[in-house]
Amino acid sequence: MIKKEKSFIMEQQDKKLREQLSKIKHKILVMSGKGGVGKSTVAVNIAVGLSLQDFMVGLLDVDLHGPNVPKMLGARDLKLSRRPDGRLGAIKYSPNLKFLSIEPLLPSEDTAIIWRGPIKHSAIRQFIGDIDWGELDYLVIDSPPGTGDEPLTVAKTIPDAYALIVTTPQEVSLIDVKKAIRFCQKIKLRILGIVENMSGFICPHCGKPVDIFKKGGGQKLADELGIRFLGRIPVDPRIVDTGDAGKPLIAAYPESVTAKAFEELVRNIIVATEEMKKDILEEKFMRIAIPISTPSKIETDPEKFELFALYDVENNKILVKDVVKKAENQGLIDFLKEQVVTHVLLFDPPKELADYLSQNEIKVLVTDTSTETPDSLIEEYLKEKQLH
Ligand SMILES: Nc1ncnc2c1ncn2[C@@H]1O[C@H](COP(=O)(O)OP(=O)(O)OP(=O)(O)O)[C@@H](O)[C@H]1O
Ligand SMILES: [Mg+2]
Repeated sequence: MIKKEKSFIMEQQDKKLREQLSKIKHKILVMSGKGGVGKSTVAVNIAVGLSLQDFMVGLLDVDLHGPNVPKMLGARDLKLSRRPDGRLGAIKYSPNLKFLSIEPLLPSEDTAIIWRGPIKHSAIRQFIGDIDWGELDYLVIDSPPGTGDEPLTVAKTIPDAYALIVTTPQEVSLIDVKKAIRFCQKIKLRILGIVENMSGFICPHCGKPVDIFKKGGGQKLADELGIRFLGRIPVDPRIVDTGDAGKPLIAAYPESVTAKAFEELVRNIIVATEEMKKDILEEKFMRIAIPISTPSKIETDPEKFELFALYDVENNKILVKDVVKKAENQGLIDFLKEQVVTHVLLFDPPKELADYLSQNEIKVLVTDTSTETPDSLIEEYLKEKQLH
């Protein structure tokens, strides 16, 4: 009985979460392989930059250990607002920028907290599901360093989030990028691109760029890995000052070289997010699900659909393969939407099922053999697709 009630509550929560997420057009998770490369700085400046372009933007700080978005925005005193319907709203920073961080929810700002994995997980889910963010064009999510619980929870909670990877030009940092990219692939997070921060130097006296540090590694790496290079931000001492003073550089010194670099980054992000959407429409990116009974056998009975092999395909090449289980009480469409599946490959599906999927904007691929392995079915499909 208790178990049943609990699952009812969780179902309601999931529903709320999905409703909220469907109102957000693009979700961007700012991450990196290691700490201190400027994720929060980049997250705050692109959120402000996007809001200055008249987009509706949300900025979410999921760094539960050291949240610093409120400080960087100079908004530590702003409090959460309660809506007439009792829900909490994100904090309004400007007419079109809202943010949320764990900090305003803590008794004192210096409280050291120890979060365990499951608590982190539910806190982050609540940040997104229980808080009213309204309609947004962009939700920018700042995460703590590395490949830990937080980015994993975000990826699980927001399967259609894109990863924006921040790096610095040093060799070690580039190794960390490769680690972050592998992590993204493992958790099926599509990569928006990389940003090279602290690339080149802006002279504090004349405000002009000086090339005393190494730069350019990010571009080379992006080319090598076939991902987008979204821009480089120079080392600029004013970034530290503006971060401490609570006025993001892009707004504080709009005419500076560094603000221009952030603006270019913002423009590239806008283009890249649109491209990511277009890639799905044009089938350059597909996430194909195949119901399976065992890893090597397709499930033919719709009543028994529970395990699914998922394939991320980009430009006709399989990037990642994974097996995911649908919860018993979850509807098929809900599950497929949650996994951001674009295509389902089925053996001789009943017409109602195929129609039902198409009505929900999931494309149906049909096979007439049930004896081949899911892997070879996919490969055959891709081969055929290439011929056309
Ligand atoms: N381009 C830059 N020029 C000068 N200083 C910078 C630049 N980018 C970031 N910084 C400074 O470097 C420090 C670390 O930046 P930030 O907090 O954004 O990194 P982070 O990746 O979010 O760190 P953490 O991993 O701890 O979350 C800050 O003091 C910030 O002001
Ligand atoms: Mg940070």
